[in-house]
Amino acid sequence: MDNIDIVCGDAIKELAKLESNSVDLIIADPPYNLGKDYGNNHDLKGFDEYLDFTNKWLSEAKRVLKNEGTIYVFMGVRFISYLYNILETEQKLYFNSWICWHYTQGLGKTKGFSPRHDDILMFTKSKKFNFYLDNIRIPQKYYRSRNNMRGANPGDVWLFSHVHYCNENRQKHPTQKPEELIERMVLASTTKGDYVVDPFSGSGTTLRVCQQLERRGLGIELNPEYVNSTKKRLSQKFTGFDSIDERMSRIPNDLNDPKIREEYLKNHEKWFLSNHPDALEKFHQEAKEKYNYSPNLPQTDKELPLFASINERIKET
Ligand SMILES: C[S@@+](CC[C@H](N)C(=O)[O-])C[C@H]1O[C@@H](n2cnc3c(N)ncnc32)[C@H](O)[C@@H]1O
Repeated sequence: MDNIDIVCGDAIKELAKLESNSVDLIIADPPYNLGKDYGNNHDLKGFDEYLDFTNKWLSEAKRVLKNEGTIYVFMGVRFISYLYNILETEQKLYFNSWICWHYTQGLGKTKGFSPRHDDILMFTKSKKFNFYLDNIRIPQKYYRSRNNMRGANPGDVWLFSHVHYCNENRQKHPTQKPEELIERMVLASTTKGDYVVDPFSGSGTTLRVCQQLERRGLGIELNPEYVNSTKKRLSQKFTGFDSIDERMSRIPNDLNDPKIREEYLKNHEKWFLSNHPDALEKFHQEAKEKYNYSPNLPQTDKELPLFASINERIKET
């Protein structure tokens, strides 16, 4: 568990032990106050008590964040507006993005609309924060000389299904989050060796992602059973992240120039699908159908010069 640590305890108390301005990224998925059963803690506080709890842990979170640091906070619809208010008005953090995590399945309502999303608020500690867009681009739909063929910004609506019970990575935890959703936050807001803290680490998704992406990670979790199962999860062999944005495996249409096509398809495997070996088979199938491309061409560790040539074309136009 090099550089990855998990402590059993209360988020407010454990965050209070950390140095000020020491953390690059906080990914927080707190209890939503909807009455979930987390074993040794029940997720149902009084209204004011929940807001007070939220304010307290966010105050510590802000203190430990570096000036260039970012915080992402998950929340359900019941408390999202109050959370926004606390982040902006009370903690005086800087709003950046309101991300909608759209999941495909969930409970059905008979009166009203069945919920199919959670929100994630991205705030930063200052206006000068780190953000690495190139690490999280998604494949373009079409080849266009004016398009950045390194990929497009994934936008603020993220479609990932829940980790289903039949998935081999499914943990015994009621609100486990998909790994690629967390991967996107880690890649967007940190580089290798940066320090990531998850104050409500649950089944350990953030830590698992940090471990694979070579970030330092600290998880805080109140339930010792989840702490133990996280340790087990971290010791298991990695076979790829348990979820994928379907757009990651798409192949642009109109890759008509054979050189550009070959370069794009080879690079695709390295950039977009590097942590998703499971998705390679589907990608190869589609590449074969669309462009009669075979992956058995010699691989190279170096990036191919596709984007230089495209940049030249952009300059020419
Ligand atoms: C929504 S879940 C986090 C799920 C996690 N993101 C995952 O992918 O598994 C919230 C977690 O916070 C824990 N928790 C509740 N109150 C806490 C507190 N005061 N300090 C630390 N952890 C707490 C719960 O036991 C639960 O596992």
